[in-house]
Order: sequence, then C-alpha cells, then structure tokens
Amino acid sequence: MNDIDELLLDSVADALVAQGYWIGDDLLPSNLTRALLKDFEQLQAEEFKSAGIGRQMDYQLQETIRADKIHWITDKTPATADFLQWMNLLREGMNRRLFMGLFDYESHFAHYPVGAFYKKHLDAFRTKGGQVQSNRVLSTVFYLNEHWLPENGGELVIYDENDTCVIQKVVPVFGRMVIFLSEKFPHEVLSANRERKSIAGWFRINEGAF
Ligand code: OGA
Ligand code: MN
Repeated sequence: MNDIDELLLDSVADALVAQGYWIGDDLLPSNLTRALLKDFEQLQAEEFKSAGIGRQMDYQLQETIRADKIHWITDKTPATADFLQWMNLLREGMNRRLFMGLFDYESHFAHYPVGAFYKKHLDAFRTKGGQVQSNRVLSTVFYLNEHWLPENGGELVIYDENDTCVIQKVVPVFGRMVIFLSEKFPHEVLSANRERKSIAGWFRINEGAF
C-alpha cells in the first residue's frame, strides 16, 4: 500500500473547514480503483439488495426515493481491504487535523441501474434532542465509472445548507471522490442513461460521545 499524501490530506481538511466539502480525482491510486471495479463486477446480482431507508417505510415507498442496489463492503478481498485501509488513513488524517472524533467507517458498493436515482436527502440530521441520526458525520462517495461522459447524466447534485440553491453538480467519473459533512448538505443522484457504480461510505462518531 502506498503512503497517503499528507499534503492532499491538508487540502481535504482545509476544504472541509472552508466550505464543508471536498471533491478530487487523485485521493486513491488508480490501480486500486480498477481492482475495486473488478470486485464490484464479480459480485452476483443477488448479492445486491435494495437499501433500507427507515424501518417504518414500506418497500414500495422506498423505491420512489432511491432505486440503487447495495452490497456492504467488508475486507474480504485484497482490494476492499486496501480501500478500508486508505479510508482509515483518511479518518486518522481528519481526526489529527480537525479533531473530528471519527470512530469508524461503513461503506457499500452501490449499483444504479439505467434510470435509477436517489431523491434529495440528508445522510444524517440532528433531532431536537441534539442526537445525530445514525452518528454519521462525514460522507464519502467514490466513483467507479470508466469513460463516463457528461451526457450520461447521473450527477450528484449538492445543495447549500439552506436547501435554496445548487452548489455543485458532480459528474461520477472513475476515481473521483466526494467528501462532505453529512448533516450539512442535502443532495440527490440524478438518473443516468448508463448503469452507475459507486462506493458510498460514512465516517461515524462513537455513540458514547453524546
Ligand atoms: C448516498 C448518496 C451519492 C452518489 O448513497 O447516500 O447520496 O453520488 N450517494 O452516489
Ligand atoms: Mn446520500
């Protein structure tokens, strides 16, 4: 495993402080991205499941909000183990610089069939009691789509904190990583005319910290 670029981590931390998000194409080595794509492609259709949104929600309603299919990542293959190690270095790098108290990381492969979308949502939000839903504080999305063109659609649209305007439209090209504060930015995935592959992940804080 290569060393993570400390200067790159500096710029991720600076961007999180200045604007709450970072977008870049060279956080992970491209041979790792290719190996992750291979792992993804070797998974069978039945290893991908519809994602749950809330326990109270029925399946049909869920499908009107998100239509991606997911497979949770464990460290079972060399590529996924390597990926989790890199994300751990990112976790430690942010904790060292920003004292974020990031405790662990959960992630899944996400497969969006042609036409699939994920309606506008927050990955976490504070309830009245100050609790953060699911303890997610920092979201990551990593894209595995080779030769993706802007006309393929499938952008990640990020809205400002007050949900009044679009601040970024991210084209999900191979090797691109988006990192953002989970509670801050409503975002959605537009439908694409090609299947769309990504790894979504969340750094969490320890529940005991409340
Ligand atoms: C998510 C998500 C964004 C993307 O899985 O919560 O917002 O671009 N994904 O895939
Ligand atoms: Mn999301």
